[in-house]
Amino acid sequence: MSLLLGFGLLTCIASSESSSVFVLKGQDVRLDVQENVTLKELELFKWTFRSENILRCTDTLSVRVSPEYNNRLEFYQGNFSLLLKNLQQNDSGPYTAVLNGDKEKTIIAYQLIVQERVEPPVLTVDSNSSINATCNVTVTCRGQNTSVTSSCNSRICSQVGGESRGAETSTVRLLSVYVAGGFIICNHSNQVSWANDTKEIVELCPMKSERV
Ligand SMILES: *[C@@H]1O[C@H](CO)[C@@H](O)[C@H](O)[C@H]1NC(C)=O
Ligand SMILES: *[C@@H]1O[C@H](CO)[C@@H](O)[C@H](O)[C@H]1NC(C)=O
Ligand SMILES: *[C@@H]1O[C@H](CO)[C@@H](O)[C@H](O)[C@H]1NC(C)=O
Ligand SMILES: *[C@@H]1O[C@H](CO)[C@@H](O)[C@H](O)[C@H]1NC(C)=O
Ligand SMILES: *[C@@H]1O[C@H](CO)[C@@H](O)[C@H](O)[C@H]1NC(C)=O
Ligand SMILES: *[C@@H]1O[C@H](CO)[C@@H](O)[C@H](O)[C@H]1NC(C)=O
Ligand SMILES: *[C@@H]1O[C@H](CO)[C@@H](O)[C@H](O)[C@H]1NC(C)=O
Ligand SMILES: *[C@@H]1O[C@H](CO)[C@@H](O)[C@H](O)[C@H]1NC(C)=O
Ligand SMILES: *[C@@H]1O[C@H](CO)[C@@H](O)[C@H](O)[C@H]1NC(C)=O
Repeated sequence: MSLLLGFGLLTCIASSESSSVFVLKGQDVRLDVQENVTLKELELFKWTFRSENILRCTDTLSVRVSPEYNNRLEFYQGNFSLLLKNLQQNDSGPYTAVLNGDKEKTIIAYQLIVQERVEPPVLTVDSNSSINATCNVTVTCRGQNTSVTSSCNSRICSQVGGESRGAETSTVRLLSVYVAGGFIICNHSNQVSWANDTKEIVELCPMKSERV
């Protein structure tokens, strides 16, 4: 009884929100069921991608894998986890674990998003000046499809301009510019990778950083 209740609850959560999983292109990902599944007689467990069956497992634990996935998945019968290998861009999309008994029940759903590694950004100095011994450096950082212009002193940067193209939904790339450890740092990141470019402040502000 409590098992049934558990399933009902999970289905409810799964149908309202599937959790997003970000993976770097070329890497593997394991999708867990996060529940003890027991197959009753003649029940069928499935992992699906979009509406295609990737894998089917019967109550007698006989497993059939879709030919397209032959060499690039592992299935753990002990816990019904799915390991997908060497993920490519077109592997992005919804994955669901489904239990097919008297009714079809979604046990869990994932939204997989495969991302490329970000390119290193390029940080350039537009101008530098000194106002009352406070250094003022204007920098522009350029990433793949974005750029940000910031005004920095030896402690902080604040954004003064910049366009941000290519910020489509879930594949957001971020550029952030900040000061740390005597460097102006531009960090270009997405959910699975980051890269930076830096400029040493002492070189831009040789007038000594007179700070208390
Ligand atoms: C699954 O089964 C194991 C061992 O039988 C138990 O330790 C664990 O608490 C169970 N997990 C859930 C979510 O019911
Ligand atoms: C499922 O089994 C595999 C192989 O034994 C293991 O690596 C993985 O951690 C297990 N997943 C969960 C959620 O326990
Ligand atoms: C993704 O593309 C590759 C190569 O074009 C193809 O072999 C593979 O079947 C595709 N995968 C899916 C899930 O469509
Ligand atoms: C601006 O930077 C250059 C080196 O890049 C430095 O020679 C110059 O003194 C700096 N000017 C000011 C006002 O800090
Ligand atoms: C520079 O410092 C002087 C004296 O402390 C002050 O009067 C002046 O407003 C400052 N200038 C700027 C641009 O902050
Ligand atoms: C720093 O320099 C830029 C460009 O010259 C200027 O627009 C900005 O107002 C300056 N910032 C400060 C705090 O003086
Ligand atoms: C830049 O944006 C264009 C159009 O939005 C897109 O087609 C292209 O893939 C993007 N390039 C990179 C490197 O993100
Ligand atoms: C760059 O940003 C990523 C994501 O926010 C973060 O994990 C990483 O530590 C940052 N790197 C640096 C050098 O700040
Ligand atoms: C970030 O910048 C530092 C300082 O230039 C450098 O040592 C480091 O390798 C950079 N990290 C990445 C991931 O580019």
